[in-house]
Amino acid sequence: MFGVIGGTGIYRLMDPEEELRVETPYGTVELGLTHIGKTKVYLLARHGKKHELPPHLVNYRANIWALHSLGVERILSTSAVGSMVPEIRPGELVYVRDVIDLTSGRERTFFDEPVHVDFTDPLCPQINSLLEREYRGVVYVCTNGPRFETPAEIRAYTLLGGEVVGMTLAPEVFLAREKAMCYSSVSIVTNYAAGIKGKKLTIDEVLEVTREKEEEIRTLFSKLISELKGMKRTCPCPKALDGATL
Ligand code: HPA
Repeated sequence: MFGVIGGTGIYRLMDPEEELRVETPYGTVELGLTHIGKTKVYLLARHGKKHELPPHLVNYRANIWALHSLGVERILSTSAVGSMVPEIRPGELVYVRDVIDLTSGRERTFFDEPVHVDFTDPLCPQINSLLEREYRGVVYVCTNGPRFETPAEIRAYTLLGGEVVGMTLAPEVFLAREKAMCYSSVSIVTNYAAGIKGKKLTIDEVLEVTREKEEEIRTLFSKLISELKGMKRTCPCPKALDGATL
């Protein structure tokens, strides 16, 4: 079973055949269900159906808990990002190969006991090996938002090794691994980050580019799901908790 999490501008990547609500210890989650062939695909709008939740208020734990409780083993997510390097241009799709988490104040774990999960391969290496055939892999810096960054922050993030900046990958990616699920993410580069081209950033340009790219993401995710559903999970993700506890 698959989960698809849509980000800004992409609330429902595919049309749901059915709407459902899942109760979790962290709150209620609304999802859609569709099928690709006989395979179930659960659809989740990260910011809510009407984009009512800013990045720092998304209920990441409830979302991942809900997908896991439905039997989802692999999650494909999308998000909008700003590019911090000139060669990655607005309009490009990239996949995330690593992440730097600069968020604070978000609930970022399911564990209150000592569990130390490995993140040597932060995104699912099996799904990423399919994505790398066509797309560039990038290091994603996750900021807290909801404001955009300052030019000095962007310069600092590039010194850390970041290439794109967004507000939602963390803690989603970490929580999925804590539930031993595969998680990969395709980002839509919607703009150059603050100070790179010196122009003001607006949510309108972010939405415009995500809308332009929605069809490409839909096709890509349908293709990926069709390919992955016949493949065993040979990645380390299902064994994420082995060696993580005392
Ligand atoms: N910064 C942070 N998040 C974003 C950006 C950005 O420039 N563009 C789209 N999401």
